[in-house]
Amino acid sequence: MAKKVLVLLGSPRRKGNSAILAEQITRGAKSAKAKVETIYLHGKTIAPCKACFTCQKIGSKGCSIQDDMQELYLKLIDADAWVIASPVYWFNMSAQTKIFMDRCFALPAYQADPFLGKKIAIAMAYGGEDPFDSGCVNALRTFQDSFGYIEAKLVGMVYGSAMEAGQIRSNEKVMQEAFNLGKKLAAE
Ligand SMILES: Cc1cc2nc3c(=O)[nH]c(=O)nc-3n(C[C@H](O)[C@H](O)[C@H](O)COP(=O)(O)O)c2cc1C
Repeated sequence: MAKKVLVLLGSPRRKGNSAILAEQITRGAKSAKAKVETIYLHGKTIAPCKACFTCQKIGSKGCSIQDDMQELYLKLIDADAWVIASPVYWFNMSAQTKIFMDRCFALPAYQADPFLGKKIAIAMAYGGEDPFDSGCVNALRTFQDSFGYIEAKLVGMVYGSAMEAGQIRSNEKVMQEAFNLGKKLAAE
């Protein structure tokens, strides 16, 4: 059975550097016969979690916020793997990505153990010199801690330095790493 991969783009730049890395992951996954769907988070209406805890109550029917996340919950459950692509904004992931992550708090109300064994790939771009000075590591650590905590399977993380949209293409090493990560995501 073909693996289903859901790509979540967390930059407002549709053709930005993190989106390009996600596209490379997509190419790799498709080369291994995966079916890929891409969601541009910035184009969706996704409100921040309001901490009502409705989703945590016994017998909960899900998140109380009726917005585009409702459709996304079903896609997230259906997918075998997720790709989360984000730029570094203020030494961490973008707000669009973080709001999405917070709203995933409600996912267990839609399916028991929704994260268990879910395969995850991360793609990040930063304008600074290196992953430490740029703050990229803060986001990478957040993803590691979050997906470790919920027992998802973090298959790999690709990240590279680029400021202008499209600049990441000249980094052949990270472009190849992203392609390989996509293949791995679809194969495992
Ligand atoms: C609001 C904002 C905040 C940013 N903060 C950082 C930062 O803290 N560290 C950094 O290295 N680059 C920072 N950048 C630069 C972006 O990370 C860089 O341009 C990256 O390539 C954007 O990825 P994208 O093309 O996928 O949007 C910032 C850019 C913006 C617009």
